[in-house]
Amino acid sequence: MKYNIATIPGDGIGPDIIEQTILVLEKVGQKYGHEFDFTEVLAGGCAIDAKGEPLPKETVEVCQKSDSVLLGAVGGPKWDNLPGDARPEQALLGLRSVLGLFANLRPALLHNALKDACPLKPEIVGDGIDIMVVRELTGGIYFGDRGRRAEGKMGEEAYDTEAYSVGEIKRIAKAAFDIAMKRNKKVTSIDKANILESSRLWRSVVTEMAKDYPEVSLEHMYVDNAAMQLVRDPKQFDVIVTTNMFGDILSDEASMITGSIGMLPSASLGEGGLGMYEPIHGSAPDIAGQDKANPIATVVSAAMMLRYSFGLDKEADAIEAAVTKVLDQKYRTGDIMSSGMKMVGTNEMGRLIIENI
Ligand code: IPM
Ligand code: MG
Repeated sequence: MKYNIATIPGDGIGPDIIEQTILVLEKVGQKYGHEFDFTEVLAGGCAIDAKGEPLPKETVEVCQKSDSVLLGAVGGPKWDNLPGDARPEQALLGLRSVLGLFANLRPALLHNALKDACPLKPEIVGDGIDIMVVRELTGGIYFGDRGRRAEGKMGEEAYDTEAYSVGEIKRIAKAAFDIAMKRNKKVTSIDKANILESSRLWRSVVTEMAKDYPEVSLEHMYVDNAAMQLVRDPKQFDVIVTTNMFGDILSDEASMITGSIGMLPSASLGEGGLGMYEPIHGSAPDIAGQDKANPIATVVSAAMMLRYSFGLDKEADAIEAAVTKVLDQKYRTGDIMSSGMKMVGTNEMGRLIIENI
């Protein structure tokens, strides 16, 4: 089979990690007899520099025509002072929106070999952490009406609006329950229903959806409590489903308790097969182009792509197993380095993963 993949290296360490990920995919292609065709396009700060806008039209067109999109990272201090709608981050929001990628899957998995990197006490971690955060990605306050108005009681006001429709909640709830069926059959839906009307609708739609999944146990939790429970007792969570903003915040927290944000992938999915896959970490401009970045999050994002967009389960397993092996062999990039381990750069880490596939 031939698969067309749009690649968006983006800014900072993006190009470093995408380069290694393409090499890994090429190895998988050779070994399992698939052809991966890569088309590189611009988005983020580099697109602002080259084309004057964060998400050029041709980038959107190439992504729409592809079977999936692989993204490195966007943004950096160079573009931090641009007005809101001209910032590199708009490329991400724009792509999610035009490609209809409403479900964002962010696994927070603690690798056995990296237990020491976890900032929580061993008795809290037990035999590991394995949480799947399912974040709604194309609705809520990040896409709601926003603006400024002069007539505020205490001067000019700015506002952003959180709004969710039944249909939007249903489809993300369904995604979460479907994933829970393949995992430990528990969904924790996180909201702020003690205050927000949008959360009260969220809660009732999710509760209704649970009736279609009698095997899955559903729990509701307020977001402030959830932030606390994630560090107090992370093992209580299997699948978390939540809104765009709460998911943005809690997925960073969930990644941090695994101790290695440089390890974690994400998938953004819509109704069809096309998805966008990217590491959850940022563009780390301070180490860009220095062969220092950890490529693993992007490499395992590619594994998610094989699994969720192309249905290539054993190929995805092969990538993940290779990563585990390399970690077991004590190879580490700087971000996950600890004493007694062997420090390697981006390219060597990529080479080692390929060698183990
Ligand atoms: C993320 C990021 C983005 C988001 C930013 C960069 C727009 O924080 O993917 O979590 O808020 O969605
Ligand atoms: Mg975020």
